[in-house]
Amino acid sequence: MKVAIIGASGYTGGELIRLLLGHPEAEVVCATSRKLAGMPIESHHPHLKGFTDLVFENPEIDAIDADCAFLAVPHTAAMKYVRPLLEKGIRVVDLSADYRLPKDVFEKVYGVAHTDYFEAPYGIPELHRDSYGKVDFISNPGCFPTGATLAAAPLAKFAHTIIYDSKTGVSGAGDNPSAVTHYPNVGDNVNAYKWTSHRHLEEMRMEMKNLGSKARCYFTPHLVPVNRGILTTAHILLDEPMEQDEVEMLYRDFYRDEFFVRYQSPALAAVRGTNFCDLRAESEGDRVVVVSAIDNLVKGASGQAIQNMNIICGFDERDGLRGAGLLP
Ligand SMILES: NC(=O)c1ccc[n+]([C@@H]2O[C@H](COP(=O)([O-])OP(=O)(O)OC[C@H]3O[C@@H](n4cnc5c(N)ncnc54)[C@H](OP(=O)(O)O)[C@@H]3O)[C@@H](O)[C@H]2O)c1
Repeated sequence: MKVAIIGASGYTGGELIRLLLGHPEAEVVCATSRKLAGMPIESHHPHLKGFTDLVFENPEIDAIDADCAFLAVPHTAAMKYVRPLLEKGIRVVDLSADYRLPKDVFEKVYGVAHTDYFEAPYGIPELHRDSYGKVDFISNPGCFPTGATLAAAPLAKFAHTIIYDSKTGVSGAGDNPSAVTHYPNVGDNVNAYKWTSHRHLEEMRMEMKNLGSKARCYFTPHLVPVNRGILTTAHILLDEPMEQDEVEMLYRDFYRDEFFVRYQSPALAAVRGTNFCDLRAESEGDRVVVVSAIDNLVKGASGQAIQNMNIICGFDERDGLRGAGLLP
């Protein structure tokens, strides 16, 4: 299957190329970058030298020849591609936020008009794959909502309040340098940011509603000096107390058949470079603390996007994603 990656010079685009090198059915045939068109892939992704002869290109949408395309571009850029690609018969997985939220919520949260809205399936596969049906487009979830929602989902129906506290690595901001990601601001430092107003909060709230929860959700992210990973501590306040044994059984049972969710004490290093979400729950009665760890660029973005591609294309969900983590 021929794959195009729109936005291949970015962090998630680079991860898509890396992961798809190990996919038995898919081959990347088009990797776009406006700024690097004509340059070999390794000029920007040196870790990929020797694995691919791809050259960045900047084709018109009409000239893209693929069976499936990933949109690894900023929000608002993706909405220009989706419909033209679908009309060419190309399946699309969109990593941006453009189709994750209802139109009015998107426009409020992102402060821009949506120029080509339609309702799209949103997909954390572990929670939603059964409702996809036969589709040729998936809106891939945000990185924070993925780790947070997987942490809270088993208890969603029993909670009245959920407080997510997340620590994220710097690659979450993409590869465009900024004052916030400048080394002296990040190294040897920890900052909270968007304490009450991060854009992903609405996605987390939408997910809880989708799961039939009435819980109020709150979220504060922190930037920590690591390249990859999101560690989320979810404080889940319950209507009725639950004992540790009951909580643990609930989590183990909920994710029993899920290859990519592992019930064990989470640590960023253990999931680095992988599509796994590690999580564990501890109860103190009416408050359960669940901690989850994901790699923001893999389960939080490109890996989950490939998982979604595998589902809509009828491949094994694990294809291209079987690699273990890097520890230490
Ligand atoms: N980083 C993460 O952890 C993460 C996690 C989940 C989701 N996401 C989402 O995934 C998307 C990509 O994120 P990223 O971190 O990979 O960003 P990034 O590192 O900044 O890369 C963005 C890519 O998009 C291209 N691009 C930018 N504007 C474009 C436009 N108007 N038209 C076509 N191409 C354009 C860029 O190359 P040129 O400018 O050379 O064309 C580059 O290849 C974003 O929507 C982001 O929110 C990111």
